[in-house]
Amino acid sequence: MSKALIIASRNSKKLAELRELLAPRGYSLVSLRELDPQGRLEIAETGRTFRENALIKARAAARAFERPAVGEDSGLSVVPLGGAPGVYSARFHRLTTAELRGLYNAYPGGEPLIADGLDPDRLNNVRLLAELEGSKDRRAFYTCALALVDAAGKALFTTRGEVHGRLGDRWAGGGGFGYDPLFHPEDSRLTYGELPPEAKRATSHRSRALRRFLAYLDEVRR
Ligand code: IMP
Repeated sequence: MSKALIIASRNSKKLAELRELLAPRGYSLVSLRELDPQGRLEIAETGRTFRENALIKARAAARAFERPAVGEDSGLSVVPLGGAPGVYSARFHRLTTAELRGLYNAYPGGEPLIADGLDPDRLNNVRLLAELEGSKDRRAFYTCALALVDAAGKALFTTRGEVHGRLGDRWAGGGGFGYDPLFHPEDSRLTYGELPPEAKRATSHRSRALRRFLAYLDEVRR
């Protein structure tokens, strides 16, 4: 029988990646999609670090469901942008229409992005390309923080994983999610958008954090 963990997330792409990493180890995830299908539990991500946000999410779920819970927070830090968007990775695209038009016109690939239905991941990538226009320094890294709290919200364990790489000047590939079509991990010629999912699973910030988390669970369950 698989061991179920409550996770304070509704991000389906993130959940799919975590489930694929956990399933071989006999763990399943119960997410807010199942526990709170109406979306009543609103969690304000007010932390200044990925770890703080992971703890905020875990505590909100633990309190709501009176069970131990896991929180995950992740994002992209871009070296020439001083670490932005960092904890604002999911919200990077929140721009005025005027700003967005400017960015769209500035986009070097010239794809019809606005006609795409304003997909937030795409808009984040547009914004990122515009912010980096002309920058030779393309260094960036993903961070994933995981936190486990008990039913009372007390932190039991926190960890993080990172993967460093560089950002391309146009997006490539439809795999992964978020900034993956721009992100070349380590020395890869291909982006996470182009690489097969198993290549992302082997090196990603999420898998690195999760390996540490599983080592902790193995230890406490011994
Ligand atoms: P969160 O759900 O508040 O943790 O926001 C995470 C955001 O960081 C996502 O919306 C993406 O923009 C970005 N992100 C985190 N992990 C990844 C990844 O594995 N690939 C691409 N983007 C990611």
